[in-house]
Amino acid sequence: MGQKRQKAGVNTRLAHMGNDPRDFFGFVNPPVVHASTVLFPDAATMAARNQKYTYGTRGTPTTDALAAAMNELEGAAGTIIVPSGLAAVCVPLLAFLSAGDHVLIVDSVYHPTRRFADTMLKRLGVDVQYYDPLAGAQITGLMKPNTKVVFTESPGSNTFEMQDIPAIAAAAHEGGAVVMMDNTWATPLYFRPLDHGVDISIHAATKYPAGHSDLLLGTVSANDACFERLYDTFLTLGACAGPDDVYQVLRGLRTMGVRLARHQESALEIARWLEGQPGVAQVLHPALESHPGHAIWKRDFSGASGIFSIVLDGGGEPAAHAFLDALEIFGLGYSWGGYESLAVHVFLGDRTIATGPYAGPVIRLQIGLEDVDDLKADIEKGLNAARTC
Ligand SMILES: Cc1ncc(COP(=O)(O)O)c(C=O)c1O
Repeated sequence: MGQKRQKAGVNTRLAHMGNDPRDFFGFVNPPVVHASTVLFPDAATMAARNQKYTYGTRGTPTTDALAAAMNELEGAAGTIIVPSGLAAVCVPLLAFLSAGDHVLIVDSVYHPTRRFADTMLKRLGVDVQYYDPLAGAQITGLMKPNTKVVFTESPGSNTFEMQDIPAIAAAAHEGGAVVMMDNTWATPLYFRPLDHGVDISIHAATKYPAGHSDLLLGTVSANDACFERLYDTFLTLGACAGPDDVYQVLRGLRTMGVRLARHQESALEIARWLEGQPGVAQVLHPALESHPGHAIWKRDFSGASGIFSIVLDGGGEPAAHAFLDALEIFGLGYSWGGYESLAVHVFLGDRTIATGPYAGPVIRLQIGLEDVDDLKADIEKGLNAARTC
């Protein structure tokens, strides 16, 4: 399909991107290459490393297929594939930060990103500062001469604040910083960070790309200016992923468009219904008109995935636990993006700026592929239990 595919619909492109079946005797899928050693035909080729593949850490036909697919989806110059979403956060931060540098990280960031910054980055001599997810262009006022990275995640983890990414990117670039975005929530189907001024787009491919809660993987896609340094750090760290997981994510991409459409539709229907349910003080979903970041979501994003939060109208931890314990279809578990629904009582104790206030406990719901009526009935059980506990 080649060039013609650029104009095709997203599901057509997802079905064919990444590999060319003709490269492997016409087999539709690329081989799962398990590799450390790659042989060279002679000493001169070996000395010059003058062949496409040279060692397992540097890439294989399997990793190339997924990287090519992500490049196409993200509009990126290059993509590295790492063993988890958390590694996809840490590797670019290590690539672009040194002792004496200053980094700005959004306060609604995924908690383990904060832990990495507060422990390892600080130990390496990096000045870590958190900023308000609603800062937008005001980020200019926080920039220092040594600010090297502005880290974004939109919507924010658990509370779903929308960031004005184009405004932040413009201000960060003005100050000479690289802009990174954890884009896991939207996937590149619903937001393409590099088209909005971001330099490096990060994904926990563990979530929607994998889609089945059975593996961990991360991808980091960069523009031309940033890819070489990112790739160099990736090689230096040896942070390569296992071939079976890489293959499974490529496999997951084939159906990601149809899965996401279903996640989006079900989540939005449930979110709207929840807005009218007794015991629910607030629904934190950017595609709802009531959400404070709705205008930004509508301006920049082309869809919403299947995870959002509700705020119970009081009751504290006992109400949150009663809600969770009454659920029968929703599993109590971390992560999201899989086919099954999950719920978790959100911890916000690490926040310093984006602290609410919230009327009661915040419960995050990952809406899976089950039937909406069944999920609503399950949530109703949870809400009844929370009200009567
Ligand atoms: C926004 C976000 N980024 C990154 C990650 C990390 O992904 P992984 O679980 O693959 O390490 C997660 C995991 O929940 C996440 O929610």
